[in-house]
Amino acid sequence: MCGIVGYIGNKEALPILIDGLKRLEYRGYDSAGFSVLNGNGIMTEKAVGKVVELENKVNGKNIKGSVGIAHTRWATHGKPSERNAHPHCDCEKNIFLVHNGIIENYKELKADLEKLGHKFSSETDTEVLAHLIEEYAKQVPWEEAVWRTLAHVQGTYGIATIKADDPERIIVARNGSPLVLGILEDGFIIASDIAPIVRHTDRVIYLEDGEMAEITKEKYEVINFKRKKVAKEISKIDWTLEEAEKKGYDHFMMKEIMEQPEAVENSIRGRLVVGEGIAKLGGLRDVAERTRHLKRIVIVSCGTSYYAGLVGKYMFEEYAGIRTDVEYASEFRYRKPILDEETAVLAISQSGETADTLAAIREAKNKGALTLGIVNVVGSTIARETDAGVYNHAGPEIGVASTKAFTSQLSILALFTLFLGRQRDMSYVMGKRIAEELEKIPELIKTILKQSGEIKKIAKKYSSFSNLFFLGRKYNFPIAMEGALKLKEISYAHAEGYPFGEMKHGPIALIDKNFPVVAIATKDSVYEKTMSGIQEVKARSGKVIALATKGDREIQKMVDDAVFVPKTLEMLTPLLSVVPLQLFAYYFAVNKSLDVDKPRNLAKSVTVE
Ligand code: M6R
Repeated sequence: MCGIVGYIGNKEALPILIDGLKRLEYRGYDSAGFSVLNGNGIMTEKAVGKVVELENKVNGKNIKGSVGIAHTRWATHGKPSERNAHPHCDCEKNIFLVHNGIIENYKELKADLEKLGHKFSSETDTEVLAHLIEEYAKQVPWEEAVWRTLAHVQGTYGIATIKADDPERIIVARNGSPLVLGILEDGFIIASDIAPIVRHTDRVIYLEDGEMAEITKEKYEVINFKRKKVAKEISKIDWTLEEAEKKGYDHFMMKEIMEQPEAVENSIRGRLVVGEGIAKLGGLRDVAERTRHLKRIVIVSCGTSYYAGLVGKYMFEEYAGIRTDVEYASEFRYRKPILDEETAVLAISQSGETADTLAAIREAKNKGALTLGIVNVVGSTIARETDAGVYNHAGPEIGVASTKAFTSQLSILALFTLFLGRQRDMSYVMGKRIAEELEKIPELIKTILKQSGEIKKIAKKYSSFSNLFFLGRKYNFPIAMEGALKLKEISYAHAEGYPFGEMKHGPIALIDKNFPVVAIATKDSVYEKTMSGIQEVKARSGKVIALATKGDREIQKMVDDAVFVPKTLEMLTPLLSVVPLQLFAYYFAVNKSLDVDKPRNLAKSVTVE
């Protein structure tokens, strides 16, 4: 959580820092701050709330300087306040530092530092870093003081630090929280991800855990924890600035919902060989012999990516014949998972930085399992740490509520199913059928998006309700979960996702005219059972919004409202049925005048455990 930016070069730092923070706001937005260095020392400003509050606060102030660091916060230690906002500094107000991560042993370090006379001015874990660097810097040069400090720290960090009496350098370091260095023509920009960098350059270096970099206007030097210089590879960013901006939509979430046909198309492009009924996954080439002999797959992920994993389980078991378990990454890592060389642990993560998913992958590696990834952000930590994997190519997802990454994940899971299935006993005919249907999905999503006006009306009609059920069976049970998550995270309504069949085992007690049900009732192998469930809800005066297959006249007579999706292969229905639920959640929240891109208490990328 939290986003950090730093700049050193020939331009004014402040506009670059503020712009960078805005692009990192998805990582946290409860307070923000910056420190800028000029010939007269360091100027620091902080504000509670979104970055625009900070921007308004400094508007008109003469803040000059071409070296600076900045931070947008998602509170972990200490409430959102100016006092707790970053940058934090030492007693002498000489060393300033921004941090993304958690210092687990900060209490002990703080107690030791207080005994030495250090005075703390915040409740954060981060502040110990500035004081510890100060303490060491009494004896050794600044960079060595940073090393020594980090050697005493337990936890995770991406840090950037500046020093008033050493104004020509920024020192940055990473352990567990991402840091990317952008190489500009006349300087450098450092950030938690490429979003603030992409408008300035497409040349970047990804720092690894245990690495520190000293950056001046002219050059950078990366050193690893063994104090050896590291020759870093320069990577090219393949996202354009335009892709990362709103393109005229009110919210990133809407833009990203609308981009789904393209996102799915990009995910399958060049990978689906329809004529042969196979998927070519270049990222799995090197491990293809191992995947052929896999006996089990364990999918680890969180939130929306977890629900994608649940759909993957149905796909893998039905069509590839591989036992598949899906685990919340946050639980997997604390259990004693039984893994072996014939098991693959597959991480699904949009950001590639989710701390729980990363920890699960590390645990799986220790236990000898093959680790695989389905990741959207190129060069992210999970992408780099897994043995092999497939990138989504869905483009940047900025809205906190995941939408296009989800449908993209589902399409990659369908490709995985083809890949694994055809390595086993999936027939050519079945492979071809899946490939043909998958290829049609982008066009089918477009037809659903055209109904957004209808869905908007339905969402408006129900937006005064504070409790809703989302119910579905088989492939659409995870979609019910995802529909409920979308609604709760952006509208703050209480939404419960359930397998339809479970309703009669307890939750049905809640049904009355004030507790509407969104029922996913597409024409598939469980359609009749779902229809019985809808009857049960109606018999208890429950209102039903049905998500049905185009042409289903029968259902329209039974329910209060209906949205229709086109017919496809049962295993691919989630790629369609989720879209109206995303639109429903979006309009429901917009109708309540909520900031859908930045819902309260959340952050896009959860890099804390
Ligand atoms: O980046 P990841 O896919 O690993 O993120 C996992 C979850 O944090 C994420 O899906 C979260 O649940 C979203 N806010 C859902 O919209």
